[in-house]
Amino acid sequence: MSVIRKGTLEDASNIFELYKKVSSIYPDNLAQQIDEVNFSYIQAEIKNAQLHGLVLLMFNDGKLIGFVKAYTSEFRRKAHVLTNATMMMDPTAVGQGFGTQLLEAYLDELQKSLRHIRVMELLPYDLNVKGIRLYERMGFVLTATLPNKIRYLNGTFGDQLLMNWINPSFCDQVLLQYYQYLKTLNNVET
Ligand SMILES: CC(C)(COP(=O)(O)OP(=O)(O)OC[C@H]1O[C@@H](n2cnc3c(N)ncnc32)[C@H](O)[C@@H]1OP(=O)(O)O)[C@@H](O)C(=O)NCCC(=O)NCCS
Repeated sequence: MSVIRKGTLEDASNIFELYKKVSSIYPDNLAQQIDEVNFSYIQAEIKNAQLHGLVLLMFNDGKLIGFVKAYTSEFRRKAHVLTNATMMMDPTAVGQGFGTQLLEAYLDELQKSLRHIRVMELLPYDLNVKGIRLYERMGFVLTATLPNKIRYLNGTFGDQLLMNWINPSFCDQVLLQYYQYLKTLNNVET
């Protein structure tokens, strides 16, 4: 049975293990090579997503099989753009509809609880046909192609696609309230 819930710092080691698995099978789909990812990086990404974004995990029979996170800038004028996204499924669980379920849950949660988000950005590389097709099915629209943004492991250069999803529940009033939250966050952090 599959379960989707928010991720916390306690999930960091499981997420790190997932990164390693995904990176060994799909090294060209991720921005980082696995020796560039460490435990503190994973912790920092979870913390960012908890503070100004969302991290969702998917479990099947108790085992972590999926991870999606994204977060906004800490600066108010960019706080409506959810970016810095990462999505990955355990290689043994792909092609069974789990990724679709997880992304659907993510977009539902944005519509329900993160109404200050006007747009979510995804930035897949051009060879990631499966990812791109999934994002198109979920309503993400190709907005720009950024040429030569990645050097694949075989030495060829690839493009990065900017794909946008517009949140139909976006509310400007909620965004203005969110600015207040960001101010308190900055006060706490300094
Ligand atoms: C891209 C990724 C997240 C997709 O996740 P997924 O769980 O495989 O997604 P789904 O199973 O929902 O959909 C994938 C395909 O399986 C098909 N599918 C869905 N349910 C199915 C089922 N029950 N039986 C057979 N096929 C099925 C979908 O139609 C889809 O087909 P398509 O690629 O021809 O469009 C996953 O492949 C992954 O983690 N890749 C490595 C990391 C990565 O690329 N991350 C994204 C970086 S931008």
